[in-house]
Parts: sequence; structure tokens; C-alpha cells
Amino acid sequence: MQQPTRGALGSGMTFRSLDPQMIRGRLVTRSLGRDLILLDKCTSTNDVAVEQAKNGAEHGVAVIAEEQTRGRGRQGRSWRSPRGGIWMSIILRPPTSFKPLDGLPLVGALAIARAVTSMLNIEALVRWPNDVVIDGRKFAGVLVESSLKGADPDFIVLGLGVNANFHAIALGELATNSTSLLDVACSPIDRELLICAVLQETEQLYELVDSDKETEVVGLVRRADWSCGKAVRVQLEEKALNGILSDYEDLTSVRIIQKAGTTVCVETNTVVSVKYL
Ligand code: BTN
Repeated sequence: MQQPTRGALGSGMTFRSLDPQMIRGRLVTRSLGRDLILLDKCTSTNDVAVEQAKNGAEHGVAVIAEEQTRGRGRQGRSWRSPRGGIWMSIILRPPTSFKPLDGLPLVGALAIARAVTSMLNIEALVRWPNDVVIDGRKFAGVLVESSLKGADPDFIVLGLGVNANFHAIALGELATNSTSLLDVACSPIDRELLICAVLQETEQLYELVDSDKETEVVGLVRRADWSCGKAVRVQLEEKALNGILSDYEDLTSVRIIQKAGTTVCVETNTVVSVKYL
């Protein structure tokens, strides 16, 4: 029986640490999360997962930490990871034929959006390229890192971060653009259940992508999308693009209509940053 840990809910409130038995008992996946490494604290679960994968860890191993001291976001940004969140990295070992590596951040974001929407009955939407938002405020993000063997991926680490049982105000300066499930649901959520739901959604979507059903996944992204129709400024290495994000071309690129009426196709892996205007 675990003792409640004083957490970040707010003064005088407590939350329970993650219970691995409660995750294992509710998990219905074939492989994702079947082998679970649950840590109290680490630099980044992606770091631990990369290390595990280099040492031969199998497809599906998931690393979860209560707290990250050096959580990482896209483009070298830091990712605040206090206690009460869900900080999880999943090792994927795709077949050599696996193509849509650059589409995985979107797959991870969609998995979180679908899990939150069905579990909490709150509309969580995907914001291209890798965010999950509620009412336009970010509460989750995805960081994919991979190691190649020649031209093919040897392993992929899918890092998923969800602001769950802490108030977004704990994130300091980022709080105006961010929210948390605690802020939205107004009571602590069942993190074990959400972890299981995210793992299940990720497994199903990954299997669709892996069996050449990418178009089906793009359709699901469109249905859970927040971004299309919004004005954006996309910073690429060499230049910036302003326009309306019109649609997903596929899992790895979007179409942007510029003021002059020209449509540009932007590959997600060339994007430095995205600002919604
Ligand atoms: C982003 O939106 O910029 C991506 C955030 C990804 C955060 C997760 S938390 C688990 C994993 N470990 C990390 O250091 N980052 C990812």
C-alpha cells in the first residue's frame, strides 16, 4: 500500500504516487507498456529509454517518471515536469520498411487527445505539429527521438508529456498558454487509467501506420484537429511563412495558403517553430 505523497496540487492537498500494479492490472495492449520501468525521478524519460534501447530493450518497453529534472521539448527547449504529471517514453522498434517516422509526433499527440477525450469527456484536440490542447491551451506535447541503422530506424523513442495533476500555474511563465487536466477537470484525474488509455491508443494508431493505413490515421487527425483554418507563422531554417493552415497533406506535412493565394506544402521535419496568430 503506497502512502500519499505531498504533491503539487496546491497547499495542503496530497496526491498518490503511481501504482505499477494498477497500471498492469488495467493494461490491455499487446506490447506497449507490458514491460514498465517506473522511476521516482530522472533527468528525462527519453534519456532513460534511449539508454535502455541501446542496451537491447524490446519494442514496447515504457519508462515513466514521477518527476523529470531535465525534461526536454522540441527544438532543444526545456520541458517543465513537476510531480503529478505523466512523463512517459515508449521504445518502438519498427520494421525496416517503416516510412512515416516524421509522422510519429502527430500520432503521439492524437493518441493523447483520443485518450483524454474518451476518458474525461473533455474535448482535447491536436495542434500541429505535436501539441495537444484544450480550448486552445496546451496541456501535452510529444518529443520523438530515433537512432538509425543505415537509412532505417533501429529504434524510436516516443516521449509523451501530459500536464495532469498539478495546476498550470506551477509552470511559471508558460502558464498563460498552458493548462492542465487538473485545471480543466477541477479534480485530480486517475493517472494510471490515463496512462493505460494513452498506451492503448498509441498501439492502435502505430499498428495502423505500420500496416500502410496512414490515410486512415490522417482522417482521425482531421477529426481531432484544432489547427486547420488558423492563421500561423511557421519558422523554417531559412525563412518564415505566414498564412492559413489549410489541411494535412499526410502525417508528415501540411498545406499553408499564403496571402497571395499560393499554397505551400510544409514538411514537419523542416519546421523550427510555429506560432498561431
Ligand atoms: C514539446 O511539446 O515540446 C514536447 C514535450 C515532450 C515532453 C515529454 S515528457 C516525457 C519525455 N521526456 C522528455 O524529456 N520529453 C518528453
